Amino acid sequence: MRKIGIIGMGHVGSTLSHIVIDRGMVDEIVLLDINQKHLKAEALDFWDAQSFLPHHTKIIAGDYKDLADANLIVSTFGNVNLTVESGDRFAELQFNVKQIRSMAEQLKKVHFDGVFLTITNPVDVITAVYQRELALPKNQVIGTGTFLDSSRLKKEIGERFKIDPRSVSGFVIGEHGNSQFPAWSSIRIFDNPISSFAKENSVNIDDLEEKTKEDAFRVIDGKGYTNIAIATAAATLIEMILSDSHSEVIVSHYNKKFGIYISLPAIIGRKGIVKDIYLPLDQKESTKLKTSAESIIKKTKLFE
Ligand code: 2OP
Repeated sequence: MRKIGIIGMGHVGSTLSHIVIDRGMVDEIVLLDINQKHLKAEALDFWDAQSFLPHHTKIIAGDYKDLADANLIVSTFGNVNLTVESGDRFAELQFNVKQIRSMAEQLKKVHFDGVFLTITNPVDVITAVYQRELALPKNQVIGTGTFLDSSRLKKEIGERFKIDPRSVSGFVIGEHGNSQFPAWSSIRIFDNPISSFAKENSVNIDDLEEKTKEDAFRVIDGKGYTNIAIATAAATLIEMILSDSHSEVIVSHYNKKFGIYISLPAIIGRKGIVKDIYLPLDQKESTKLKTSAESIIKKTKLFE
């Protein structure tokens, strides 16, 4: 049986639940929220839609005890302080860490032993805090990291070259935050290195790194939060985990060299991270990765 839990029924949690239920991705889904009235209303809204769907999903407005035998839990809750003015996902940290500590205590009591995926920001630091508090093996705790930023980059490249973003391969790596960057030396279009492809087609790509980074802020400026793209990214990861797909992904996971959670390519499966994938970097990219790691190390240390 495929069973997952989603903690937090805010914009991201409810959009993600909707995708999971609508696609029939699981047999059982447990929804949790601190606000019981809101949680019950959200579950009721999902139940009301059930007779229209081509599959059955058991939807539970639940509690931590309902998560004991879940294959996967997703943390979507958070006090979203990310604004165009603050300009940094770090603004959300203080509040979220307090909540995580009390949630982790409850989850430990029910002996949850599945994969824990977090979306809550600042995701790299939060993933480390969750791992420590839950005392789960490091490979079982994952953050969505720069999976979404990589999709944003593919969209920007796709628009610039007038091609399907799915014809672009490669990653934005590092922090899901301001020190992230595209690993340009391994980004390819139709299997051509992007730098030569851009030169051949006289396309300027110099501003795409900045545009990718600013994407979240453009969405937030218009509607106050981001939910659709991040929920779609998380649903993609859920599918890969539950089906034990062994796909290559870019997610925030434990990196031995830096001793922190940071986004670099890895293989993902039923028990979380299966193994790291080596990504060749040029000199400039290695320096940038070190800077990005240092920024996460500094923030993670505050909560040790
Ligand atoms: C995003 O990048 C806000 O971290 C969230 O959409």
